[in-house]
Amino acid sequence: MSEESVYPVPAAYAGHTLMNETGYFELYNRSVEDNEGFWREQGRRLDWIKPYTRVKDTSFARDDLHIRWYQDGTLNVAANCLDRHLAEHGDSTAILWVGDEPGVSREISYRELHRDVCRFANGLKSLGVRKGDVVTIYMPMIPEAAVAMLACARIGAVHSVVFAGFSPEALAGRMDDGRSRTVITANAGVRGGRSTALKDNVDRAVDLCRETSVEQVVVVNYTSDKVRWHDGRDCDYGELVAGQSDDCPAEEMNAEDPLFILYTSGSTGKPKGVLHTGGGYLTYVSLTHEYVFDYRRGERYWCAADIGWVTGHSYIIYGPLANGATTVMYEGVPNYPDVTRVAQIIDEHQIEILYIAPTAIRALMAEGDKPTAGASLESLRLLGTVGEPINPQAWQWYHQSFGRGRCPIVDTWWQTETGGAMLTPLPGATTLKPGSATRPFFGVRPALVDNEGNILEGAAEGNLVLLDSWPGQMRTVFGDHQRFVDTYFSTFDGMYFSGDGARRDADGYYWITGRVDDVLNVSGHRMGTAELESALVAHEAVAEAAVVGVPHELKGQGIYVYVTLNSGLEPGEAMRRELRNWLRNEIGPIATPEVIQWAAGLPKTRSGKIMRRILRKIAADEYDQLGDISTLADPSVVQQLIDERASLA
Ligand code: WTA
Repeated sequence: MSEESVYPVPAAYAGHTLMNETGYFELYNRSVEDNEGFWREQGRRLDWIKPYTRVKDTSFARDDLHIRWYQDGTLNVAANCLDRHLAEHGDSTAILWVGDEPGVSREISYRELHRDVCRFANGLKSLGVRKGDVVTIYMPMIPEAAVAMLACARIGAVHSVVFAGFSPEALAGRMDDGRSRTVITANAGVRGGRSTALKDNVDRAVDLCRETSVEQVVVVNYTSDKVRWHDGRDCDYGELVAGQSDDCPAEEMNAEDPLFILYTSGSTGKPKGVLHTGGGYLTYVSLTHEYVFDYRRGERYWCAADIGWVTGHSYIIYGPLANGATTVMYEGVPNYPDVTRVAQIIDEHQIEILYIAPTAIRALMAEGDKPTAGASLESLRLLGTVGEPINPQAWQWYHQSFGRGRCPIVDTWWQTETGGAMLTPLPGATTLKPGSATRPFFGVRPALVDNEGNILEGAAEGNLVLLDSWPGQMRTVFGDHQRFVDTYFSTFDGMYFSGDGARRDADGYYWITGRVDDVLNVSGHRMGTAELESALVAHEAVAEAAVVGVPHELKGQGIYVYVTLNSGLEPGEAMRRELRNWLRNEIGPIATPEVIQWAAGLPKTRSGKIMRRILRKIAADEYDQLGDISTLADPSVVQQLIDERASLA
């Protein structure tokens, strides 16, 4: 191996995992040589109502783009996550819910979860929700959120989960795009000791909707907070399920029927509704959950994500439950009431597997030994990360502190679009290098290409693409198939373009270098610069705005905003505060900028295109690396921006 610090498979793992190194290479080779045969076999891990005969029908050609897996099979995703475990494992814990306040937790068995899902599914039916309807879920991390997702899947409704940290404006945009007429929410959510008025946000969002008219809002009255009630529209969750039968036959769904929409940011326009279907997605998340985490039944597995993101969908809910796992659902944040909380939860519940974002690791690392001092952590045997590149230093800290030097770390690279992990170590098979997502999962064919789309061989750096389909791949952008084609398949002919850059070393290991498009990754949350800019120019004071990312120690990237105000307006602290709050209201607190810099003008080419490269360098104080500025319409703006920047620092 070429890098100095490598971490071989620990002795305790050898021979005890699903997959060793030789096994990985053998199966990987088979999975790409006979891709269809591989997935034909793997699809059998699910229970099908009508078994599939056709496995793969996919094309990445721009003029004939289609992705279909198991297309003549029928199944029900919720039945695969619940019903089939009942006979032998009905009493084992499906969800271990851990509350925001220490000491508060609840175990929900597969039998109980099945009952709750059936009742709520019947409740939704009684409200008139039908197969194919889009149901918005805007919920805190409480068991009812999982129940809501699975109840939709059970009756064939398409859920659209919106992160509960998004503002009413952002929520309304997603409800409108999905033409969603039903929303499920809670009166309030509690995180880090603070309560958020979710139902009030829904009320405002309903008023803001232009394209859809919301007919019903189902409210879990979770806290004692009182909310305004709209008779005829609002419906109390408790009352709705009270009278319902425990029996709700699972709807027979085609493998390619939509399972969910999840909105994510791209480099242009408003967020895209990423659409996933049932059969291929569940096959993929179930297989990856089992192999990436080397999951064994009975183990307690904790993915510390939020169901508002794809990680929560795939690796809190669908993957683990399809595998009959015990999945931890944590309501709170990693540092409440203090930084020892994560370690305390692990010890209290004897958790074996922890999967968490680098941003949380870095935040804890800033506290040194404190987060794990005095904890046992004996139960842990595997660690994972996802969402952003992890710097080797944070990797090593995670390995030493939580892993006590003995737990492997699976650094999994994937996207909302990919449904599940694509590049990842397997704990019993892969020698680890801190900061590398290592090798492709079974059936995955990554490649690096230069800007002209030429495939690079050997050790190289370039744009990360995928050459062939996999069952967990998104199928389309909801309501806009052309945007799907344009976004992912038009940059490089016949390839899926991830938007990420990566390096491959001499051992064939991949190192993700981050987005190469205009997408930011702030604390693991994806945000489009275009989305932020259009929110800013919607403010009456703003003439023009440009947004770039700057390196940030804890968040990975921070938001750096350049604003040109309309003439005659006073730039100053009051205006800064105003614009900061504006962004928080338009999008949500995750969109809070680090810096707002006033700009008399922005660096533009003669054709009027903003040169973000220059803005990124100025924001990062790298004035000596601006590159060629001679193509600018007015090169003098650069010096003005540098002077203004210097006055900020
Ligand atoms: C980034 C989250 C480096 C990447 C599952 C990708 C990563 C985007 C990793 C997708 C990783 C995700 N190493 N970067 N292990 N995992 N990313 O859609 O830039 O919220 O394109 O999906 O996160 O973010 P998304």
